[in-house]
Amino acid sequence: MSKDTIILTPLAEDVYTGLQARNKYLSSKYFYDAKGDELFQRIMHLDEYYLTRKELEIFETHKKAILEEINDGEPFRIIELGAGDGLKTKVLLKYFIEQGVDFTYTPVDISGNVLEILESNLKADIPGLNIESYEGDYFDALAEISESPEKDIVFFLGSTIGNFSQEEAEVFLTDLQNYLKEGDLLFLGVDLKKDPSIILKAYNDSQGVTREFNLNLLDRINSELGADFDRDQFLHYPYYNPHTGECRSYLISKIDQVVTIGEDEFHFREWEAIFMEISKKYDQPQLEELASASGFRRLASFLDSERWFADLLWAK
Ligand code: AVI
Repeated sequence: MSKDTIILTPLAEDVYTGLQARNKYLSSKYFYDAKGDELFQRIMHLDEYYLTRKELEIFETHKKAILEEINDGEPFRIIELGAGDGLKTKVLLKYFIEQGVDFTYTPVDISGNVLEILESNLKADIPGLNIESYEGDYFDALAEISESPEKDIVFFLGSTIGNFSQEEAEVFLTDLQNYLKEGDLLFLGVDLKKDPSIILKAYNDSQGVTREFNLNLLDRINSELGADFDRDQFLHYPYYNPHTGECRSYLISKIDQVVTIGEDEFHFREWEAIFMEISKKYDQPQLEELASASGFRRLASFLDSERWFADLLWAK
């Protein structure tokens, strides 16, 4: 069957477009099938993957100051985009409850399953937490929730913004800003520029979990689109550019080969690369630029002791 005669799924559409491009690419948003979720959980527990540990340290160290910045005594709502297992956020939620703060926690995720697990964990660990999950798209959630009169604080943690190109990040944050009301806040987790060897190790860990995480997308394309990628013929290669702060991951074809998807053929030259993921690290001027390009006013920054990671509070 030719791809012109069938209706393509978003995955198929994006894979065809990416593999037909002059510089081949695949979108890292497709990393997260069941196996990918499991691999990402393992990555977050690796010593070399400092990001999760550093953000947790920030919450533990600065929870009092964070609360002072966001709490004006009125009830508010925390809307967490892509809440995942909520492990880090739990530190803040627990502290806020202990302080008798009146707030509602709304985790937003595309996966109902993720939300169910999160909700039952949080209810068990934090009695008294008012939790109202939203299953679906981030912007649908914001459109619906931001109608309510109380102050909204949008949590977008874990350096997820780093997986966007500069342009995508500006568009995403501008759209987000447009959904917010005057006085609403954004709490944004960003990874910072640092010794490049530390960054490269985080994306090329010694156990090869990150390599698996990337190769898993080839497996996914094989099983969901009927392709015949041979994962052993691709090399995982992360590359860090200290000027832009972009750590880019590639899968590089070790040989000249043809991969088929259904009846379509894709030729890979020897050492031809597929760009897989961007994980951007920011410096202060870049963050100032991002805030002003998306219409936010910078309120406060919270950093870990080594200044490797930051959680930023920006106001509409
Ligand atoms: C989800 N995101 C912030 C991770 C990151 O660091 O870019 C995804 C990841 N890719 C490789 N390791 C972790």
